[in-house]
Amino acid sequence: MTHKPFKAVIPAAGLGTRFLPATKAMPKEMLPVVDKPAIQYVVEEATQAGIDDVLIIIGRNKNNLSNHFDSVPELESNLAKKGDQEKLEKVQRSSDLADIHFVRQGEPRGLGHAVLRAKAHVGDHPFAVLLGDDLIDERDPLLTTMLEQYERTGAAIVALLEVPEDSIHLYGAAAVETTEIDGVVKVTGLVEKPAKEDAPSNYAVIGRYVLSPDVFGILERTEPGKGGEIQLTDALQELAANPDGPGVYGVVFRGRRYDTGDRVDYIKAIVQLAADREDLGPALRPWFKDFAANL
Ligand code: UTP
Repeated sequence: MTHKPFKAVIPAAGLGTRFLPATKAMPKEMLPVVDKPAIQYVVEEATQAGIDDVLIIIGRNKNNLSNHFDSVPELESNLAKKGDQEKLEKVQRSSDLADIHFVRQGEPRGLGHAVLRAKAHVGDHPFAVLLGDDLIDERDPLLTTMLEQYERTGAAIVALLEVPEDSIHLYGAAAVETTEIDGVVKVTGLVEKPAKEDAPSNYAVIGRYVLSPDVFGILERTEPGKGGEIQLTDALQELAANPDGPGVYGVVFRGRRYDTGDRVDYIKAIVQLAADREDLGPALRPWFKDFAANL
């Protein structure tokens, strides 16, 4: 299938109320996971999948986010003078990563509304949506598989994670049928945050999507849904229900994923990623063992 190159859209305009007061003056996507803000992992994931045009949807406190992806001449010349190449590279990495753009979502009216704000920038390119508070471990790549499935089907692609029945009410849930490809399912229906008894399955939609620009036309007429917000899930349900279109497919993810918008998962992400790191792991692992033994 020939099409224009993929762009990436990272919505980061939510209120982050679960992290108050830390998110009073800072978006939750800027919270550090070990020593990098969560959103930098997400931008790196997009670039590793070959996407170098990234649009971040920002809300209030936008300066924090845009500053992070700008160069900081004062700090850089200070580190250069000291000859601290290692730290200098760390500072420069975020500004050299990709071609990063910003657009404002005036009011947080839901994920669907945030994605719609990307319409002018995305134009007629297909695009990936990566939620800025959802981290996929770089050792378990997901986005590349999703882009391949878009190439194969021309359909909207969602990432699905099997979750315990008791947690499905926290996610969009998908009704699915198997396909001839292991780990790829056809999505026949989607419902946002269903009660356990109404969920069509325990396949939860997680924060990665690959979409055609046709979705903007649907989002423009999507009415507010669950929680009074314009839901991306509702627009995708319309695509899944259209017998004349390419539909929606799901890539089932079985790797490591951290929902850094949730406090418990955020702490787990820091512990796991730090324990695995060469520079921090050796000092931390024995301490974790001791700590756990005394709980
Ligand atoms: P969440 O529902 O997890 O974000 O949205 P939230 O509302 O900020 O979180 P809490 O519950 O108050 O703590 C999922 C993603 O969609 C973005 C968020 O920034 C997050 O990455 N989002 C959500 C927007 O960009 N705009 C919106 O209007 C809503």
